[in-house]
Amino acid sequence: MPKEQSFAQRLIAWQQAAGRHDLPWQGSRDPYRVWLSEIMLQQTQVATVIPYYQRFLASFPDVGALAAAPIERVVEHWAGLGYYARARNLHRCAQQIVTVHGGFFPKTAAGLTELPGIGRSTAAAIAAFSFGERAAILDGNVKRVLCRVFGIAGFPGATAVDRKLWQLAESLLPETGIEAYTQGLMDLGATLCTRGTPHCPACPFADSCVARREGRQKELPEARPRAPVPERRSTFVLITDGTRLLLERRPPSGLWGGLLVPPEGEPDEVLAARGLVTVDCRKLPDLQHAFTHFRLTLAPVLCRVAAPSALAEAGREWLPLATAASAGVPTPIARLIRQVASAPD
Ligand code: ADE
Repeated sequence: MPKEQSFAQRLIAWQQAAGRHDLPWQGSRDPYRVWLSEIMLQQTQVATVIPYYQRFLASFPDVGALAAAPIERVVEHWAGLGYYARARNLHRCAQQIVTVHGGFFPKTAAGLTELPGIGRSTAAAIAAFSFGERAAILDGNVKRVLCRVFGIAGFPGATAVDRKLWQLAESLLPETGIEAYTQGLMDLGATLCTRGTPHCPACPFADSCVARREGRQKELPEARPRAPVPERRSTFVLITDGTRLLLERRPPSGLWGGLLVPPEGEPDEVLAARGLVTVDCRKLPDLQHAFTHFRLTLAPVLCRVAAPSALAEAGREWLPLATAASAGVPTPIARLIRQVASAPD
């Protein structure tokens, strides 16, 4: 970035020329309105918030009116916005402002963070827009902008990366013009430096952005590191009398609850426990199956037995080999059965 124009100066110039200037909560320094809009805008897009903000203000024009309202009415006005803890905190916050602060919002970001539902970034936004305090915001959108422009590696949710981003955000603050600067960061993140396909040519940092220079807009910010998936291995005994296959119904809860599955365990034990007379057993190729939280290697063993004396006991079914795969069995089991049905010997 050229020295003659700082990050903040460029951002402010861009905000004034191309940022948003007609949002309903802009043009007011009333901390009640600023606070309400910032809480509504947490995890929620501007277009969704606007009608809620207007209805809310019409019903609860100031912090006293909100504090005095029953919580049910507040939640009613929130219905559809989601994250309802916000509505309950909003109401508690209004009551604290009335009972503890004499009806006035604290005038610093530090004081605002003491209130319910106001985190560090929201406090900074309220303090900047209402009182002109030089305080750094760092919500998800701003993290994305900073990670890309400055090429910050690592998952932003990791403590060390989060600390680095806060330091960077503090170091970039302008001496004057905090309102346009703060709005500029929000506008850039919401309109140009978007998650999916950022509109880099229109960006004030197009010539200096690390992510753009290196073509890494899709990789920055980095995703949460995936925990390694646990591996499990289990032997399944496919028991056939030559024409039918033994399937057993699983208990209702747990893996494959309620589905028909071949017995699981060591073949000798499985067969002995069921009183079956073995003709011969052979291993089949392993099969991998990915579940959400682990990977299962199915080690199938095909066992030929003498014809069973009973074809249906409690929880046990001998089904024709040709149709067993479509009898409500889990996907990897169906694959195993089809292998056996197409080449039983
Ligand atoms: N997102 C969070 N705060 C915002 C604001 N004041 N204007 C637009 N988008 C926002």
